[in-house]
Amino acid sequence: MPAQSLLHTCPVVPVVVLDDPAQALPLGEALLAGGIDVVEITLRTAAGVDAIRALAALPGMRVGAGSVLVPDQVDHVVAAGARFVVSPGLSAGVVDRARALGVPALPGVATASDLMAAVGLGLTEVKVFPAGLLGGPAAIRALAAPFPGISFMPSGGVTAATMADYLALPAVPAVSGSWMVDRTLLGEARWDEVTARSAAAMRHATR
Ligand code: 3PG
Repeated sequence: MPAQSLLHTCPVVPVVVLDDPAQALPLGEALLAGGIDVVEITLRTAAGVDAIRALAALPGMRVGAGSVLVPDQVDHVVAAGARFVVSPGLSAGVVDRARALGVPALPGVATASDLMAAVGLGLTEVKVFPAGLLGGPAAIRALAAPFPGISFMPSGGVTAATMADYLALPAVPAVSGSWMVDRTLLGEARWDEVTARSAAAMRHATR
């Protein structure tokens, strides 16, 4: 495991789009009850930074920020307590800012050229997005072949049914996605279902 590895610390990373920051704590508790101690809160809604702040105060939970597009956002989310930043694509500015603030950055890649840029920035862990549309596990196997030192976190279209196929690849220590915490569940505050889906995902991941 690389010294700074994020992906080897939890095989399943839930991606959350929250509309109401008051839901952050019950959500975090529901994930922990299902055995998941890491969560990515996206900046796609205005509630994102407040939700990160709330989850950063939850003992045992590691919160990161997702959909981080520009370096300024790195400052805001790290000040709120984010311990890693995830982006849909590769931005050297975001990666450099995260590094300067001492948090891991997980930029998204979709091509071999993206991966070469990531290698050039000294990265060893990346997100693959949108993994399903890129061709699923077969596409990642092909993309990973020329990059033996890189670990991949597929995201975008990963489901309870497909996660194990991704995790079967040696280059994939973790997957991420929203299926455990989709917006319908959040809208209805179905925390028991979040816990059940989280526990099921962890069972699949550690089988
Ligand atoms: C991401 O940000 O990685 C994706 O939006 C998660 O994709 P999903 O909703 O298809 O799981």
